[in-house]
Amino acid sequence: MTMLRNVALLFLFFISLLSSIHALDINVADFGAKGDGKTDASPAFLEAWNVACSSLTPTTIYVPRKRYFLSQAIFLGPCLNSGITFRIEGILAAPNYKTMASIENWVTFDKVEGVTVIGGFLDARGSSLWACKDTNKDCPDGASTLSIFSSKDITIQNLTLLDAKLYHVVIHSSENVIVQGVRIYAPQESPNTDGIHVQNSLNVSILDTGIKTGDDCVSIGPGTKNLLIQRVACGPGHGISIGSLGKGPVEEGVENVAVRNVVFTGTQNGLRIKSWGRPSTGYVKGVVFKQVLMNDVQYPIIIDQNYCPQNEGCPGQNSGIQISDVSYSAIKGTSATKVAMKFDCSAKNPCKGISVQDIKLTYQGDSAESFCQNVHGVTGSYVSPPSCL
Ligand SMILES: *[C@@H]1O[C@H](CO)[C@@H](O)[C@H](O)[C@H]1NC(C)=O
Ligand SMILES: *[C@@H]1O[C@H](CO)[C@@H](O)[C@H](O)[C@H]1NC(C)=O
Repeated sequence: MTMLRNVALLFLFFISLLSSIHALDINVADFGAKGDGKTDASPAFLEAWNVACSSLTPTTIYVPRKRYFLSQAIFLGPCLNSGITFRIEGILAAPNYKTMASIENWVTFDKVEGVTVIGGFLDARGSSLWACKDTNKDCPDGASTLSIFSSKDITIQNLTLLDAKLYHVVIHSSENVIVQGVRIYAPQESPNTDGIHVQNSLNVSILDTGIKTGDDCVSIGPGTKNLLIQRVACGPGHGISIGSLGKGPVEEGVENVAVRNVVFTGTQNGLRIKSWGRPSTGYVKGVVFKQVLMNDVQYPIIIDQNYCPQNEGCPGQNSGIQISDVSYSAIKGTSATKVAMKFDCSAKNPCKGISVQDIKLTYQGDSAESFCQNVHGVTGSYVSPPSCL
């Protein structure tokens, strides 16, 4: 009897031991993060990260509701742990651009797996750099706010990013990334402040997200495959853009992109595909644009394969980027210019498999126009402006 009881007690002891080590909760305050808005909290954040990264059990790093000055934070893997959560209630604030002139990325996750960031604010304080760029002085490019490099199984949820110096979010060489319930805010005039840039990455979803910024809301670079953008509001900003592609002669393609249930308000572009007008190995194939509302958008639907600012190395050349299988359906609203639907494709590689259906875009309460060059495709029912495919 006593022996059975002892065995049972021992068993209970192990159960409680297991559950106590099952999940680890740590607080950046315990590592000395002050949260006074002035003292650099980076060393404390990195110490907390190191504990989480070398832990064998899922770990939550809690960031209390205070303002933390963070000079720079690189959360580097690989880790023993593939379940690290940052639960942020506070605001992380960046230094002035002058003190981080040579830094390209402010908060970075590099070579990590299974990281979740929930809540919080990243305030990159970009305005003095924008002012510098505005007056054409010799200014640094600036750092991107949040970068995810060479990582896997990453979730960014309910995070707010403010006033990036350069891009707000960069997802590069990564796999299975979900961005959800994120808010991005920068003024319309802020230069180069892309919302989310995706490149060389597989399986990225951007969901339930609002982006107001001075450059592209989402920019999609070479090597992006399986990208879903759903329930996103964009504007002000330059829209959702595949490209610019074909900047270099050798490039990976963009494949399987879906953009659904998106609203553009007062943006420069809506749905754009853009490539340099010169040779390149890249391509775009398998794109679905569906259920999109345009409010006063300058170029609601546009493919531009003759991009060549300052005629840099393009004259007399055509884009090498082959664009194929792109469908546009259920796209409604208002255009701020007469040509609401423009397909300006490469003479060397005409666009093919373009389809339009159920489009209703107006200009100043009247019918808009469409433009076609080097493009092959099909027109379904209810297309206005009249299709030129
Ligand atoms: C994110 O915000 C949404 C909407 O407020 C909420 O329903 C959801 O529970 C939040 N997610 C997390 C993980 O806190
Ligand atoms: C990408 O996502 C799909 C569906 O969510 C999944 O089936 C697939 O395994 C993922 N691919 C990789 C490489 O993880």
